[in-house]
Amino acid sequence: MIDNPEGMNTMKRRPILAGNWKMNHNVNVTRDTVTELRASLSDIDDVDIVVCPVFTSLAVAAAAAEGSVIHVGAQNVHWAASGAFTGEVSAGMLTEIPVRYVVIGHSERRQYFGETDENVNKRLRAALDHDLIPIVCVGEVLEQRQAGETESVVSAQIAGCLDELSKDDMLKTVIAYEPVWAIGTGVTATPAQAQDVHAFIRKRVAQQFDKAVADVVRIQYGGSVKPGNVAELMAEPDIDGALVGGASLKAADFSALVKAARS
Ligand code: PGA
Repeated sequence: MIDNPEGMNTMKRRPILAGNWKMNHNVNVTRDTVTELRASLSDIDDVDIVVCPVFTSLAVAAAAAEGSVIHVGAQNVHWAASGAFTGEVSAGMLTEIPVRYVVIGHSERRQYFGETDENVNKRLRAALDHDLIPIVCVGEVLEQRQAGETESVVSAQIAGCLDELSKDDMLKTVIAYEPVWAIGTGVTATPAQAQDVHAFIRKRVAQQFDKAVADVVRIQYGGSVKPGNVAELMAEPDIDGALVGGASLKAADFSALVKAARS
């Protein structure tokens, strides 16, 4: 699948494990969960650990995580600084909290709220302008996989979402490959299926930017990742972490997952 794999997978990339809490956890549960996570993961310094609560819980999460190994991310960001965009939150507002990461273009945003590669690109550029670390999500739906369209779908998403990014900005950006059929379904892509697409994404990034950038960019897998399957996924050469929904909600599960990912 890769034309030129030489050297492509030799780069050591710092793993990143992110919990996407979606529309779950009120302020109190957020505080408790972050507090528990920081205690159980306090000795871990070789992976980046991120939790992404709802907007209304971000401030309490940031306070509970302060000075710890836990970083806080938002689940979306708007491209404008301020204005008549009811229901949206700007990058400047997020950095004020402060949050460090932001998930952009999650398939639920695309599916239920009409987000497109074009506006994902605008959100991404706003995030980068404010020194937020974006986690940009791509991935095919089941029909597209069954029709053999996975690579063309992901390729178009990469081209659109990452359009006109500088190499420097690309180096800061995390990509999450999340096959939509694996999200919240309990059906995980096999490590080989995930690795194939991750290698393809890295090749696409090399084409759009260059190989040095592609070697450094971190690509997470997402879709029914659990403590029991994260190690085999992470063992693949192009899988640099996980974006985790259900198994990140309870501190015990997510800390078990982070620990398993390092084994
Ligand atoms: P899941 O969600 O781990 O519950 O499948 C992943 C995601 O949506 O990011």
